[in-house]
Amino acid sequence: MRTARNTVNTLARLNDGTTLHILPLIPQDKNCLQAGYMCLSKRSRYYRFLTFQKKLNDKQLKYLTEIDYIKHFAPGARLASQYGKGIGIGRFVRIAEEPDTAEVGLITIDAYQQKGLSTLFLQLLAQYARQNKLRIFRGYVLEDNHKLLNFVRHFHANISWEGGPVLKVDIKLSDIETAPYQLRPVYLPDLKKRVVSVPKIQSSGTIQPYNG
Ligand SMILES: CC(C)(COP(=O)(O)OP(=O)(O)OC[C@H]1O[C@@H](n2cnc3c(N)ncnc32)[C@H](O)[C@@H]1OP(=O)(O)O)[C@@H](O)C(=O)NCCC(=O)NCCS
Repeated sequence: MRTARNTVNTLARLNDGTTLHILPLIPQDKNCLQAGYMCLSKRSRYYRFLTFQKKLNDKQLKYLTEIDYIKHFAPGARLASQYGKGIGIGRFVRIAEEPDTAEVGLITIDAYQQKGLSTLFLQLLAQYARQNKLRIFRGYVLEDNHKLLNFVRHFHANISWEGGPVLKVDIKLSDIETAPYQLRPVYLPDLKKRVVSVPKIQSSGTIQPYNG
């Protein structure tokens, strides 16, 4: 049966070998989301949520976890070890006035940044978005968010000024398909489960095959 929990239900490996379980958020994830939020640095918190508040309030938790999986979709990543600690979330919310566009939010807790998680989320979100007739992912980003601005260069983002310190970042879904680090779906024979893996990029730029 196609339930919220199995629309995306995937094991994933980051480029340092960390194994993750990727599952769409459900209302019962509020505590896990709060715990992940509280692990963020102030800077990451501000760049993603535009607030320094120490905890998410009930209204925010409801909005972020009680989603319809069509207009608003959000897979989260939990460590396969450490009792499923949440380490990141990808999210898109369709923009009502622009039927082919969705606003995207990405967050990886600081200790797990630069290991390929947002790349993985962007690709999983794009696969799902294409089935729902979307063409563009949009982000509204602060102009000093260099990590994000570096990250979106890999996807040929179109960046324009929105006013004040905010930039509008548009990425075509077709440019996510041709990005340098493509997910590699593999099957672990013992688990009989699909695993997607971010390939390791060696300094020479060649991609190492993932052997499961
Ligand atoms: C911006 C942010 C979302 C990126 O998340 P991340 O999980 O670190 O992203 P990735 O690891 O996929 O990519 C980061 C870098 O690693 C690189 N990378 C990814 N997979 C790789 C691989 N297999 N081999 C080598 N490099 C890889 C990416 O190309 C990117 O390179 P860059 O340094 O040139 O940008 C993260 O820094 C964050 O959460 N910031 C705070 C919140 C925020 O700003 N959100 C965006 C606004 S909504």
